[in-house]
Amino acid sequence: MVITRRDFLAALAVLSATASDTVSCFFASPENPIRVNADRLRQRLEGLSVFGRPPGGTFADGVSRVAFSDADVAGRDYAIRLMKEAGLELRIDAAANIFGRRAGTNSSLPPILFGSHIDSVPNGGNFDGDLGSMSAIEVAHTLYEQGITTRHPLEVVIWTDEEGGLIGSRAAAGELSAQDLERIVRGITIADGLRKLGGNPERMAEAQRAHDSFRCYLELHIEQSGNLDKAGIPIGVVEGIVSIDEYDVVITGFANHAGTTPMLERRNALLAAAKLIEAVQEVVTREPGRQVGTVGHLEVSPNARNVVPGLVRHTIELRDLSAEKIARLAEEVKERAQEVARQTGTTIEITKVEHDPPAQATPEIQANIEKAAASLGLRTIRLPSGAGHDAQMMVRLGSMGMIFVPSVGSISHSPKEFTRWKDCANGANVLLQTILLLDAA
Ligand code: CO
Repeated sequence: MVITRRDFLAALAVLSATASDTVSCFFASPENPIRVNADRLRQRLEGLSVFGRPPGGTFADGVSRVAFSDADVAGRDYAIRLMKEAGLELRIDAAANIFGRRAGTNSSLPPILFGSHIDSVPNGGNFDGDLGSMSAIEVAHTLYEQGITTRHPLEVVIWTDEEGGLIGSRAAAGELSAQDLERIVRGITIADGLRKLGGNPERMAEAQRAHDSFRCYLELHIEQSGNLDKAGIPIGVVEGIVSIDEYDVVITGFANHAGTTPMLERRNALLAAAKLIEAVQEVVTREPGRQVGTVGHLEVSPNARNVVPGLVRHTIELRDLSAEKIARLAEEVKERAQEVARQTGTTIEITKVEHDPPAQATPEIQANIEKAAASLGLRTIRLPSGAGHDAQMMVRLGSMGMIFVPSVGSISHSPKEFTRWKDCANGANVLLQTILLLDAA
């Protein structure tokens, strides 16, 4: 933090408004930026892990804190208690998102919004979402106890039901539909689930936030891939959340007797599928980049031991930060499909069924995350997020940035998910410094 004349005047303003014991911390030097309490962050991650832990288990046994479960309610109560301890003013919106606000010195400025989620997948780990949530509270707590008041108000958020389809952040973006609310998940409608958490589905429109109603949205998250872990780099600066295109493929051959149909006369739809799956692999890996392509679902008809397969339906999913790139790759796959159809005497139809646009992180925020990491002596690389996050909803309303920390062995959505405590603290400290930089900018 460089102390400018404006900072100095701002500091004086803070001093006149608050107790005088704040001064030493406010002037934390560029050589010694303030840091979060790493031990407290760890205690809180361990404290949260109790809610949804398998009976008789330990931290290493992971967590099932699925949204709307009793464990979710208990975990949220725990988070609310910590937010109050951090001096935050609590509010729960119609989508049951939990907000904790702290006033800034300039009430006309929009808040800096930051947080994550605490719901998990069944048999999940203790870092996905939890790290960003507990770190956001820890950052607010650190500023509170050091007596540092930012210019912008600060708003910590714990989003509702991230794992079930970004429900809370989707509502904040105004994109949660009436059909979404009636969807039944594990025997309960989303609407009833939100009621259980203190939300109000009848007044869902009130959860919608206005464009640019925040200075920016920041989220710290575990990487979930292995790039940082493999490279030994402590901080990832997220360039954006990838675009996803989904295709349905129908391959029509001719079902016939497996004993009497000569090999060269077969129109084997499954053989065509096998060649097409290989083609997807070749097309996606032929050029450099982080693009991925997956055939993950396949239905074979008649799916009998003694019949040449006559019909196959399968999916193709393509992901990359560049929507243009995956569109081009899909065209190449389609050309290869026509070749496969000719070779196998089948017809192949490929239909696009879903397009999720990429969510680009704001360049200004990426640059500030790098600056924040550099001020702490931490190396960074830029990388895309292959997984979805609440941040992709916030990008529809304003600017967004994400900080990644390494996942050991690139494991997530598993009890074995682990991020070293040092890396957790590094991520929280980068979040803190990024907030201070963006606040001053
Ligand atoms: Co997550």
